[in-house]
Amino acid sequence: MKRIFITGAGGQLGLALIELLKDNQEYMLCLTDSRPSADGTIKALDITDEATVKFQISEIHPDIIINCAAMTAVDLCESEQEMAYNINALGPKYIAKVANSIGAKLIHISTDYVYDGQARTPYTEEAVPNPASVYGRTKMAGDNFVKEYCPRSFILHTAGVYGEGKNFVKTMLKLADEDRKIRVVSDQIVTPTSAKELARVIIYLMETDSYGKYHASCEGSTNWYEFALAIFEMAGRKAIVEAISTSEYPTPAKRPEYSVLDNKMLREFHGYYMKGWKEALEEYIIEKGKML
Ligand SMILES: NC(=O)c1ccc[n+]([C@@H]2O[C@H](COP(=O)([O-])OP(=O)(O)OC[C@H]3O[C@@H](n4cnc5c(N)ncnc54)[C@H](OP(=O)(O)O)[C@@H]3O)[C@@H](O)[C@H]2O)c1
Repeated sequence: MKRIFITGAGGQLGLALIELLKDNQEYMLCLTDSRPSADGTIKALDITDEATVKFQISEIHPDIIINCAAMTAVDLCESEQEMAYNINALGPKYIAKVANSIGAKLIHISTDYVYDGQARTPYTEEAVPNPASVYGRTKMAGDNFVKEYCPRSFILHTAGVYGEGKNFVKTMLKLADEDRKIRVVSDQIVTPTSAKELARVIIYLMETDSYGKYHASCEGSTNWYEFALAIFEMAGRKAIVEAISTSEYPTPAKRPEYSVLDNKMLREFHGYYMKGWKEALEEYIIEKGKML
């Protein structure tokens, strides 16, 4: 039985991984997050505490570590830069060091926000990062540490994740329930990705030795306005939605105008295709429908 150590297990991706892995007899899960869960299945581990990261991971001696922990509040990162660096850069560094010392594989998750968004064709893994926000810069620093300290690592860049927890899909449906006019930006091109689709590709890759950088978002692209329309249509909800430009919705952090990722490595080296964004959204809405 392989031991899998997951950090940030209570977040969107962590919960999707647990859902897919919990009944698999081949794996024993060791779950940690910033706060312990009420039922005790997730233990506390702050990834910015190097000594405790080293102690807890060495004690379990996992075969695989999946780092799902991150500071994902993109705007908050602008005002809390030190915290963002500690969580998004130093945390992965500490995890990578201990992973390497015990011979564990490390799967680390990164973002489309490492790119500047100036391209107009999908970014492949060869594209040069040039982040425009504190979130993007601190995530890029984390990626570099993982690469430097743990050669047996996978770094997966994904985008627009939605699963259990606070996310765009849930926010849209909540606003629709409140019967408010909803204004959504239509000039940022993205590929929303379900946490479940991301979890599936992690589970596939962690059983290989094909270490390196991967783009791992759903196939295709859209903008947030079109994505909102698709959510309402699939969920059978009525909503008044207005398309606006980014300049009409100023935020502390600059978002990339275009952050479509080309999953070239997955496709060419593994023949692996992630679902199209609409198909993944449909799956999510059908599964979560009653709870949304
Ligand atoms: N969400 C997206 O749209 C998106 C897009 C591209 C890439 N990604 C990347 O995908 C990965 C997973 O994202 P997600 O959507 O699952 O994020 P999430 O739902 O925000 O989950 C992150 C988890 O990390 C925990 N965490 C924060 N600081 C921590 C610390 N110091 N020590 C231990 N745990 C800590 C959080 O706990 P608290 O809630 O207590 O802070 C939370 O449970 C991240 O690497 C993220 O950067 C996400």
